[in-house]
Amino acid sequence: MRLMKIIPAALLGLTLVTGASTTALASGEGAELKHQHWHFQGFFGQYDKAAALRGFQVFEEVCSACHAAKYLRFRDLEALGLSKDQVKAVAAKYEVNAEPNEDGEIFDGDGERLKRTALQSDVFPAPFANEKAAASVHGVAPPDLSLLAKAREGGPDYIYSLLTSYVDSDHLTEEQAKKAGDNNYNAVFPGNVIAMAAPLSDESVEYVDGTEPTLEQHAKDVSEFLMWVAEPNLDSRKRLGWAVLLFMVVFTILAYLAYRRVHARVHNEPANGPWPLH
Ligand code: HEC
Repeated sequence: MRLMKIIPAALLGLTLVTGASTTALASGEGAELKHQHWHFQGFFGQYDKAAALRGFQVFEEVCSACHAAKYLRFRDLEALGLSKDQVKAVAAKYEVNAEPNEDGEIFDGDGERLKRTALQSDVFPAPFANEKAAASVHGVAPPDLSLLAKAREGGPDYIYSLLTSYVDSDHLTEEQAKKAGDNNYNAVFPGNVIAMAAPLSDESVEYVDGTEPTLEQHAKDVSEFLMWVAEPNLDSRKRLGWAVLLFMVVFTILAYLAYRRVHARVHNEPANGPWPLH
């Protein structure tokens, strides 16, 4: 009889936890953000690997011209479904700084930095040697994108909104144009004036999987990808969460059955014992 009460209680607990995790994601989003449905949201949510792979294509072909992602290793891409050989082929397109040669040199005779072809174990190479060099080209150094999806309030919703909220100079009010000056006007960026020109538009990238290449699709995919880069273990953490919950439910049922067994014996004994020794 009591088991019938415990199971609904456990289910209620589950529902509360599920609800809590969704609300946690929903809070912390800025007021003007364009909220998107993300596959990884909620208690059951997992990354949409195909979308994240398309996002990698956008990152590779567009964003990585200015932005580094120093925590992204080529071999991490296997988690999105690329085979070892495919990862090798992606890495082989890039050059990274070589280790010192047998003479301990890192520059060749002409003073050029020695390079070698990237391996799967390498980090995705940064477009600039350091922040100063990046800042001298763009005025402001483009931030590293590895953790940005976790660092900004709203996370992927913020990145999506930022990329789709540029107002081109023909559509600015006089006041907005004055504010932007030679810079770019973005409705979502704090302060609205941003050193990054709109990096995406329709057909910025021709998707290898044939998905329609709209601005919104590019923005959504690259945001999914950047969320994955920032938190690659989200999927396995959620799976572990489920395993723990399942264990707790089974454990609760077993504990209850044990309790019933012990009490059944207690009730069958005369008031002052003795306890049966079998
Ligand atoms: C031509 C260079 C360039 C390209 C290409 C570029 N960015 Fe940027 N990005 C910048 C610069 C410069 C900034 C710093 C802007 C500032 O602080 O005013 C920036 C800032 C950002 C920010 C941070 C905004 C914030 O809240 O601080 C994000 C997110 C971002 N870029 C995402 C992207 C993504 C995604 C792509 C690819 C689709 C991309 N960028 C392509 C130059 C670039």
